[in-house]
Amino acid sequence: MNTISKPYIQRLLKCPEVSFFLFGPRGTGKSTWLRHTLPDALFLDLLDSSLYLELSRDPHRLEAMAGHLPDSAWVVLDEIQKIPALLDEVHRLIESRNWRFALCGSSARKLRRGGANLLAGRAITLNMESFSAIELGESFDLSSALEWGSLPMVLRNPERASDILAAYLDTHIREEIRQEGLLRNVPPFMRFISIAGQLNGQAVNIQNIARDAGAARGTVESYFTIIVDTLLGHFLPAWRAGLKVREAAHPKFYWFDPGVARAAAGWLHDPVDRSWEGFSLETLVYHELRVYNEVSRKQRPIHYYRTPAGVEVDFIVETSRRTAASIPHIIAIEVKRADTWNRSWEKPLLSLEAAGKVKVDRQIAVYTGERSYRFGPVEVLPFGRFCELLHKGDLF
Ligand SMILES: Nc1ncnc2c1ncn2[C@@H]1O[C@H](COP(=O)(O)OP(=O)(O)O)[C@@H](O)[C@H]1O
Ligand SMILES: [Mg+2]
Repeated sequence: MNTISKPYIQRLLKCPEVSFFLFGPRGTGKSTWLRHTLPDALFLDLLDSSLYLELSRDPHRLEAMAGHLPDSAWVVLDEIQKIPALLDEVHRLIESRNWRFALCGSSARKLRRGGANLLAGRAITLNMESFSAIELGESFDLSSALEWGSLPMVLRNPERASDILAAYLDTHIREEIRQEGLLRNVPPFMRFISIAGQLNGQAVNIQNIARDAGAARGTVESYFTIIVDTLLGHFLPAWRAGLKVREAAHPKFYWFDPGVARAAAGWLHDPVDRSWEGFSLETLVYHELRVYNEVSRKQRPIHYYRTPAGVEVDFIVETSRRTAASIPHIIAIEVKRADTWNRSWEKPLLSLEAAGKVKVDRQIAVYTGERSYRFGPVEVLPFGRFCELLHKGDLF
């Protein structure tokens, strides 16, 4: 069982030298990381109601509260989305006092809704995710990650995983419903959440979902926007190999964490089947790719690919873009929930190379077996080995 007993698990995310926003779904460990990473900072948590009242009445109090701090000292404002107007003050203080701010919240959406200007590009943005397999090290257990994901609070209390995940989603949804004014539309929103949960890892056809959820197409689009903006889920676009613009395949949708996807689907009390585990494994691979993209600041575009023959390659990472003078370089990743590798699964990977429109730098297959193999150009890697190479910077 995946479980953590250490008081603090070191995260891969590095603290920048300059002011930054830190976003990420609730409970991914943002506040914990900030307290650990910036132990000497002035820590202002807007969940504290007296602080909240004081600063919302008079944002200028912020300067007085930090008044004793020297040049370039850190100030953490946690749950910044509660007072978007504070950002104007922060902006002023970065320039006039040269303090550095760490601004933490669940999403940029809530700040923008409050009319905040996100500091006009003066701060960089970081995203926090569930634990990476690398962060967990010895205590990472793939089969429980496939079932329950890797949110810190789930790992702290694995025997209560299903209750924690149910409450997690419930709180999230309540919050969104309240903030987005969805109250009149609660039943279609709830149906949407369960459909989107069950679709984890699959191509999304908005029209069909709208029909199943009993909502208008535009409504379903706005629901997806809420989920994506609050970083609960991500669209994985279809990749177009050629220059010719053909009709693009629908994007796929992945929740940020397999446990949260299962809670959304309403399947916490049903045993997971093999096909669900397949999507969960893809969810974990996508999660590791995002974490690596974030931590390394490489931010390479990630897609999936449907070959002309209709077979899929799960992930295409574009490692260098197409230019007038050269074709794009990619690495291709195929994911299989299987303990033994079947060589027929290499075909979609090999077909990419054959298409000739890209330079395929690496062809990687990730599976749940124990051994690594090399079959011609294809590297077959156990999930753990894949994560090691990825986070070492060996893949891109
Ligand atoms: N790095 C970590 N190591 C161990 N436990 C953690 C870590 N980060 C978070 N947790 C656990 O998860 C809980 C939620 O983390 P928190 O920092 O409050 O998340 P967020 O601020 O993103 O909502 C914490 O109370 C703690 O128990
Ligand atoms: Mg927090």
